[in-house]
Amino acid sequence: MLPTMDDFDFRDKTVILRVDINSPLEPSSLKILDNWRIRKIIPTLQELQQKNARIIMLAHQGRPGKWDFTSLQQHAEELSKLMQQEIKWVDDIYGEKAINEIEKLKHGEILLLDNVRKCEEEMEKKTPEEHSKAAMVQKLSSYANAFVNDAFAAAHRKQCSLLGFIPVLPSFAGRLMQKEVEMVEKLMKEAERPRLFIFGGGKYENAIEVIEKLLHDGIADKIMLGGMPANAFLGNCEMEMEVNEKIKAILKNYKEKIILPMDTINGKDIGKESIKLFKEEISKAASIFISGPMGVFEEEKYREGTKEILEAIASSKAFSMAGGGHTAAAINMLKLEEKFSYVSTGGGALERMLMGEKLPVIEALIKFKKS
Ligand code: 3PG
Ligand code: MG
Repeated sequence: MLPTMDDFDFRDKTVILRVDINSPLEPSSLKILDNWRIRKIIPTLQELQQKNARIIMLAHQGRPGKWDFTSLQQHAEELSKLMQQEIKWVDDIYGEKAINEIEKLKHGEILLLDNVRKCEEEMEKKTPEEHSKAAMVQKLSSYANAFVNDAFAAAHRKQCSLLGFIPVLPSFAGRLMQKEVEMVEKLMKEAERPRLFIFGGGKYENAIEVIEKLLHDGIADKIMLGGMPANAFLGNCEMEMEVNEKIKAILKNYKEKIILPMDTINGKDIGKESIKLFKEEISKAASIFISGPMGVFEEEKYREGTKEILEAIASSKAFSMAGGGHTAAAINMLKLEEKFSYVSTGGGALERMLMGEKLPVIEALIKFKKS
């Protein structure tokens, strides 16, 4: 069982909190485009504040070498606005400046350290035990009583700040992590049948693996495809032989379970007839999962399919769950989040769970749980 925030008394304690507030940025100004992941960690922060805890927060943005690898200053400013209180920020992680701020931190205050991926040790893939020896962990943990990991969207990574504190401090899943895991388990184990899984978006390689596994394990009753996965299944794009063979095998073994669009708009959206067919299928399902938009919804002329399908899911009585960064962005743009049973912050992490894989962060939290 996953250790949660119910398993520790945080009153007056100092907590290291790892969150995932990695956000889409506007390419030229590098300003945050969507604060959705930032909003999702607020319940965990409020709960810790109510316990009068001192909160040292670790997070990342982008990756070294990528254009969206920035400091977290504007994330702290955004969170300050959302929570209507000062969120402290320091351009350091565990050096003198950071330690100085940590020592000054009062109970109930929140300090965000800088982008943890600026530390070389962060990007190494290691076990929790190996990471626990890193300078970052040794230094920061000496100021803390507990570690809370709320970074579900990064829970498939084996990085230092995600795993290294777990063998060293009493460690717990945050409220977002807890909810994410609960909802995926619900979808895969308990959700009423028939279960319809819908895949779209701009990539198809991973989706094909996930589709194969969901059908093989009998988790999905039907699979419906838009976006690039549909193009791949319809043979409308160039792909490697191996991928082509996989698709052929899926179509042969599960033909009656796969629903493909019958018309498309320049291959960039599903057409009117497909929208009608897809809506009928949605009305027959008791549980629905969607990952990835049906078309290039950022462009208005290719938005119709995604809009119609998301609205149909939102207004159906089925248990409805969505995942993947672009799906959440489309749902937020259409203001539909409240109408979904759950919208996951996970992309890759969620995908791994759908494949039946164990996530390193979750495994470590369970392994080092103190009974
Ligand atoms: C994400 O947005 O995918 C997560 O924050 C993990 O980041 P990464 O894919 O760069 O490891
Ligand atoms: Mg990613």
